[in-house]
Amino acid sequence: MLNKKFNINSFADAKKEGHIISMLTAYDYTTAKLLDEAGVDCILVGDSLGMVILGYENTLHVTMDDMIHHTKAVSRGTKNAFIIGDMPFLSYHTDIKTTVENAGRFIQEAGAQAVKLERGREIINHIKAIINAQIPVLGHLGLTPQSVNIMGGYKIQGKSADEAAKLIEDAEILQDAGVFGLVLECVPESISRLISEKLDIPTIGIGAGRYCDGQVLVVQDMLGMYKDITPKFVKKYAEMGTGIVNAVQSYIEDLNSRQFPEEKHTFQLDDSVLKKLY
Ligand code: KIV
Repeated sequence: MLNKKFNINSFADAKKEGHIISMLTAYDYTTAKLLDEAGVDCILVGDSLGMVILGYENTLHVTMDDMIHHTKAVSRGTKNAFIIGDMPFLSYHTDIKTTVENAGRFIQEAGAQAVKLERGREIINHIKAIINAQIPVLGHLGLTPQSVNIMGGYKIQGKSADEAAKLIEDAEILQDAGVFGLVLECVPESISRLISEKLDIPTIGIGAGRYCDGQVLVVQDMLGMYKDITPKFVKKYAEMGTGIVNAVQSYIEDLNSRQFPEEKHTFQLDDSVLKKLY
């Protein structure tokens, strides 16, 4: 039985006990508080905030300062969930010292408990240096959106035998380097199943099928709020976008028909005070 408060050891415990790890993204205090109340195991402050919060066409414009600002808000709203900060494009692509300092900001300034980095063997020394600095790292393989310009679009990864073999090797390299878990994004189900069976650390899937040790979704996608793109792997658990549009239209109608505000929404002044004003 896992602790209510999810911590770094809970990832290994979850894999041992067959507890499916629930992870969702959040970028603000109110949403984090609701996800925490619902009992989600982990909150990822994803660089997907570039698209669903800041309205960019991809995640490449997100800065360290954006990430720290939003991770701080999520920390203020979270009691039990484990918070992971997503290292944005260029925050770990230069020298190792800058990488460790940037990872450290998520912990020291923003209150995250771990960081996530995209890709495998190419950045292994950077990952090892972060772990050496006592900061837990979540790996991320498969479709790595920060590589969109190199990949030539958002495509399923690991479809050829060579690609799949590299993916499996990378997963093992990351495990050996000491990551506590691994996000697998948009890979064929048979490959994520094989990786999940091979590794001792848990895999967290997004568009990676049914056999991962946990799942992650972008919260705006699963709540039906972000309508620009809906990937095939998303299940909508609510239609909050439509709910918000309907609620705002009712508000506008109420204003026009003077049905809001009502007396119960107003503050009254004592008559004796009012008389002095006339
Ligand atoms: O940025 C993000 O939200 C992510 C998840 C989709 C895994 O990286």
